[in-house]
Amino acid sequence: MSKVIKGGMVCTADRTWKADVLIEGEKIVRIGEDLTGDEYIDAEGAYVIPGGIDPHTHLEMPFMGTTAAETFESGTWAAACGGTTMIVDFCLPGADGSIRNAINEWHRKSAPQICSDVGYHMAITGWDENVFNEMKDAVEMGVNSFKHFMAYKGALMIEDDEMFASFKRCAELGALPMVHAENGDLVAELQQKYFDQGITGPEGHAYSRPPELEGEAANRAITIADTAGVPLYIVHVSCEQTHEAIRRARQKGMRVYGEPLIQFLTLDESEYFNKDWDHAARRVMSPPFRSKDHQDSLWAGLQAGSLQVVATDHAAFSTAQKRAGKDDFRIIPNGSNGLEERLSVLWTEGVETGRLTPNEFVAATSTNVAKILNIYPRKGAIVEGADADIVVWDPKITKTISPANHHSVLDYNVFEGFEVTANSRYTLSRGKVIWAWGQNSQPQPGRGKFIPRPAFPSANVALSKWKALTSPKMIKRDPLNIPAGI
Ligand code: URP
Ligand code: ZN
Ligand code: ZN
Ligand code: ZN
Repeated sequence: MSKVIKGGMVCTADRTWKADVLIEGEKIVRIGEDLTGDEYIDAEGAYVIPGGIDPHTHLEMPFMGTTAAETFESGTWAAACGGTTMIVDFCLPGADGSIRNAINEWHRKSAPQICSDVGYHMAITGWDENVFNEMKDAVEMGVNSFKHFMAYKGALMIEDDEMFASFKRCAELGALPMVHAENGDLVAELQQKYFDQGITGPEGHAYSRPPELEGEAANRAITIADTAGVPLYIVHVSCEQTHEAIRRARQKGMRVYGEPLIQFLTLDESEYFNKDWDHAARRVMSPPFRSKDHQDSLWAGLQAGSLQVVATDHAAFSTAQKRAGKDDFRIIPNGSNGLEERLSVLWTEGVETGRLTPNEFVAATSTNVAKILNIYPRKGAIVEGADADIVVWDPKITKTISPANHHSVLDYNVFEGFEVTANSRYTLSRGKVIWAWGQNSQPQPGRGKFIPRPAFPSANVALSKWKALTSPKMIKRDPLNIPAGI
């Protein structure tokens, strides 16, 4: 059975043009005019874009004494309803510290539930010989990126020497290190200081995590990556200080990538002050929302290319879970939602306002993610041979975001009240329509697949003018060697 997506404007990271898209099985087989097939999907008046890829989610994550409420089923379903066809979720090691066991545990949880495709990143939360050895296993299991938490002291936080060891290991393996950049020692001190002053509510969370502490950690991580000779991906970039560090590193010639969140682009610190406790606590995440000046810096970074992708860091805790921190902001589970809303909010606040072109929108929500995480052009592209993860993106479907109409299990939505001006008319995952606007689509758990992401040694070389201390071997690129992907 072939399908033709008919009459739309194909919109990729490069260009926009009128064309039909022919799908056979799970793949795109032709793009052109007047294509015919067994079935037709109406794209008149809409853009045909590569399915969104969210590079940063935490579904069912055990964290801060509880477990994130969004399941692999509800999360991938909400994503699909909003035009996202793949997520990359963070695996955390369990009590035994084993990376291999953690990845297997993530497969066990996700496989029966996922409605569309997933990949994983692995968190490195400590350092020993086992971790060193098992990082290789992770890469062989299709996990080519490792996150390091520079915050959450006493829990997930890692020290600089451990981070350096892990980054060097990433250099050897052709893997991408990632960091949560915040100075965890100083955050812990400031938390104690404000708490002792009697500031126990969610505003204490914002006070204790100033942008300076994020920028310091970002600069430190960049220096460590430069010394180890690896690229670096900085997750949830919230502020000018971190953006500045990334700009500087890139100008110097380093491959440093920055990921602002849709929340940081559109919600600001006023959400924490003079609001009812639940409202503020639901928005407690790390780093916290910042002032409007920081938002402007993030938008500018997306325009200039100094920031590459927009993620959600979807870590959804119910109001009841948030209330664990009623008397102490330090124990409010950190995290906020956005999986379903990322594309429509970015379109409304970015494309509709003239800040981003539709092509830049596609790059930030899909193509750049696929390239940086080494699944391009299997994902993130509308080209022959790619997976038919496609969204018929309708710039005329409007909606007011509300927990009453969202598909997350959450009892609230941090974007509640946003009026978005574009939505997915159809979402296709590997050639199958899994969401059709207004047609009572239902989740199909177990349909999604794990997408292994191979190592990418050829891109894994420090380009800084500073000589890397560990002198990683230059691996010669073979221009005829088509990269793994399709
Ligand atoms: O507050 C956040 N960001 N929660 C999720 C865990 C993390 O730090 O990414
Ligand atoms: Zn983080
Ligand atoms: Zn409120
Ligand atoms: Zn996160």
